[in-house]
Amino acid sequence: MKGPGAYQPLNDTWGRFDALVKTLPENTAVLLDARVAQLHPHVRRALRQRTVVAMRAGEGAKSLSSLGRLAGALKALPRNGTLLVVGGGTLGDLGTVAAHVHKRGLKLIHAPSTYLAAVDSSVGGKGALNAAGAKNVLGVFHYAEACWLCPELFTTLSPAQAREGLAEAVKMAACLGAKRFAAFEKSLELSVSAVKSARQCKAKVCAVDPYEQTGKRTVLNFGHTLGHVLEAASGFRLRHGEAVGLGMTCALDVGRHAGVTPEAVAQRVEALLKRLGFHRAALAKAMKTVSRARLQSTLAADKKSVSAQALRMVLLTRVGGWVVKPLARREIEALLPAWQQGRRP
Ligand SMILES: NC(=O)c1ccc[n+]([C@@H]2O[C@H](COP(=O)([O-])OP(=O)(O)OC[C@H]3O[C@@H](n4cnc5c(N)ncnc54)[C@H](O)[C@@H]3O)[C@@H](O)[C@H]2O)c1
Ligand SMILES: [Zn+2]
Repeated sequence: MKGPGAYQPLNDTWGRFDALVKTLPENTAVLLDARVAQLHPHVRRALRQRTVVAMRAGEGAKSLSSLGRLAGALKALPRNGTLLVVGGGTLGDLGTVAAHVHKRGLKLIHAPSTYLAAVDSSVGGKGALNAAGAKNVLGVFHYAEACWLCPELFTTLSPAQAREGLAEAVKMAACLGAKRFAAFEKSLELSVSAVKSARQCKAKVCAVDPYEQTGKRTVLNFGHTLGHVLEAASGFRLRHGEAVGLGMTCALDVGRHAGVTPEAVAQRVEALLKRLGFHRAALAKAMKTVSRARLQSTLAADKKSVSAQALRMVLLTRVGGWVVKPLARREIEALLPAWQQGRRP
């Protein structure tokens, strides 16, 4: 028998939050983003009869102290209980860890309220906390039983948040979905079908490597190697989706430089990223504070490192095609001055 959190394929339901709440099992507690509670009174109303823990979202929520606070609030929840998380990626990550460890495992339902969570973080079973000054260093796999997609929640997101979700959706299309990529070239927005397609695309990758053991999930890291450098250099003030958007431009340059990404492909993807505001001037601004030493140390800490001098990067071979290429770190370092000056290396 499978315990709670074991791998299972996507189980998505689209609908209004107050309608979906009626399907919740009896022993369910809710971790709710305080901002969502404030912006969407119908969510709070629908949860009247439930144990609700409202929390402020953000990287600070992904902490051991938040986990402790949540554990206190979930004390009365029995072992076969369910945790519903209504929020973005940070509360989703916290809730996933809590569901994994609380009484050795609760069932988990995600109701992602940001685009980033809808297209990416609520799929694939990962949850993580930040600790010892490092991001996502305490992590678990705990797959959700179900995911609710409630489009009315997305109506209060800012254009910047839409861009972040789009960055991850474009990432998946660029590597794995030529047709979706062409659709984005026609209309660059997170329609219901675009969200569905990104979720299915990520789920397909996770299905062949549910616990990240064969390297098949590596493709999901396109744009993330340099993206993580930018996030770290900004002290995590740069939002993840923004960093990935800019990191993809870097990955295109690395691909050109390594002779892997054909120029026409790089130009096509770069043009789409530019439309989202991920252009070279923005990259130069974000790279300004990156010293060679910082670049070296962040790349050295990269989970995709193969040795002290080399790492593996996901590079595009065509729109909808990718390869993992081992690269000497100094090859990437050599591109830094051009990125900082806002020009193509
Ligand atoms: N587990 C994974 O596989 C995975 C994948 C990608 C990213 N992540 C993690 O996700 C996190 C980022 O997620 P995020 O961008 O959703 O961050 P977040 O949860 O901090 O949400 C961003 C902001 O949006 C607000 N918000 C949430 N829903 C809203 C709504 N409907 N209307 C208006 N505002 C709303 C939140 O209160 C918060 O201020 C990072 O910590 C990242 O590491 C995890
Ligand atoms: Zn990401």
